Amino acid sequence: MAKNFDLVVIGAGPGGYIAAIRAAQLGMSVACVDAWSDEKGKPAPGGTCTNVGCIPSKALLQSSEHYEQADKHFAEHGIKVKGLELKLDTLLGRKDKVVNENNQGILFLFKKNKVTFFHGKAAFNAKVDAGWSIKVNGKEAEELVAKHVVVATGSSARSFPNLPFDEKTVLSNDGALRLTEVPKKLGVIGAGVIGLELGSVWRRLGAEVTILEGAPEFLAAADRDVAKEALSALTKQGLEIKLGAKVGEVKASGKGVSVAYKDSADKEHNAEFDKLIVSIGRVPNTDGLGAETVGLKLDERGFVEVDDDCRTNLPNVWAVGDVVRGPMLAHKAEDEGVAVAERISGQQPHINFDTIPWVIYTSPEMAWVGKTEQDLKKEGRDYRMGKFPFMANGRARALGDTTGFVKILADAKTDEVLGVHIVGPTASELIAEAVVIMEFRGAAEDIARICHAHPTLSEAMKEAALAVDKRALNF
Ligand code: NAI
Repeated sequence: MAKNFDLVVIGAGPGGYIAAIRAAQLGMSVACVDAWSDEKGKPAPGGTCTNVGCIPSKALLQSSEHYEQADKHFAEHGIKVKGLELKLDTLLGRKDKVVNENNQGILFLFKKNKVTFFHGKAAFNAKVDAGWSIKVNGKEAEELVAKHVVVATGSSARSFPNLPFDEKTVLSNDGALRLTEVPKKLGVIGAGVIGLELGSVWRRLGAEVTILEGAPEFLAAADRDVAKEALSALTKQGLEIKLGAKVGEVKASGKGVSVAYKDSADKEHNAEFDKLIVSIGRVPNTDGLGAETVGLKLDERGFVEVDDDCRTNLPNVWAVGDVVRGPMLAHKAEDEGVAVAERISGQQPHINFDTIPWVIYTSPEMAWVGKTEQDLKKEGRDYRMGKFPFMANGRARALGDTTGFVKILADAKTDEVLGVHIVGPTASELIAEAVVIMEFRGAAEDIARICHAHPTLSEAMKEAALAVDKRALNF
């Protein structure tokens, strides 16, 4: 017999599980269906972010950063390390534990909020009088009927043409988090977010890493100053980043991979790697969703087509996160999930897509929000720019991490903050202040007049705001 709910959410990644919780808070009866299993076959809600994305990569970035600090930087602090040794299985085990704690946390939150969880793959079955019939293909087959459905099925790594992922030699973000030994030579195709973060992890652990990037520019979406500073810092650390590389034939065998490519001067190369990470973007997950059964419209790239409010072409069917247009970011998915739950319950929430922050967790970290300087130039907008280097920040000097800067772009007439670009220590945390200011449509002067604790890295934000008006105090 079918089980009835007000809302069925398909997918328990950051978009789906948050939508389910918010809807339950608003008094709806909610089911959330997710197929992800851990190695023991147990439910592992949390999607790509929790299982093979944000969370495990940050665990590995932290561990590898500790290792590199102990190896290369403790000596500056007068700490001598003897017999430093890497126990990769412990490092990976810790990462798995962190992931599992997050999976369990979501299951706990479902219980707490009375969200009914189903472990299995969900697909649209039919339009019925009470709404939508959804089939769940799990340990036991279930039929769910709900007035509203939220599709939050996420995305998967895009493979290189004729080169399927085997997750042993040719790796997606998933296999790249599970290598059981440090490769001697690691190749990466794509110097985007995943390539840079995972390339950094394995370089710190001892691999020789070469990243082949097709675009002639490094991180084309980032502010040019940030991209330049980051490229220089990452290259100095030993990441070999080849821009404008045209990758041709890639041959993978059990032993390794050979990659033919032309460099930016059209010179041909053949590189041999032990492992290859392919990180050239992601594609939306709609296979097996039953979209065609009920006429759910996909766009020409396979994303579920939605309007600004995440409504699909079908009544009371919504879609959020990576499976719809917009940046593939966990926090964007979460905000869409909350907004949809609130819209279903009659509220009128609003998401400001112009203030979604971006973060790349390399060392130095990069984070930005709003317009880049090149955007403003293209728009012909009159702006003022203030920049403050971490080199001039006392806390950064004490930390021993002075790479990078904070850069603020403000309207020349109104002083409204239009964009903030950070490269440097804890950029991921510092960007929050910029997002708040921009959400309130505040001015650089507002940041400059807010009392920032001393000594903190956040003072670099205040100083950059002062620099917009050419009155930085410490630089
Ligand atoms: P990406 O879109 O960030 O970067 C892909 C890169 O591959 C681009 O620089 C592109 O020019 C290059 N590329 C594409 N085709 C190529 C080819 N044939 N040869 C050489 N280079 C090629 O995609 P990525 O890194 O796979 O990440 C996917 C998504 O995951 C991103 O949209 C990102 O938003 C999300 N993500 C976010 C993270 C964060 O917020 N810190 C961390 C990891 C992923």
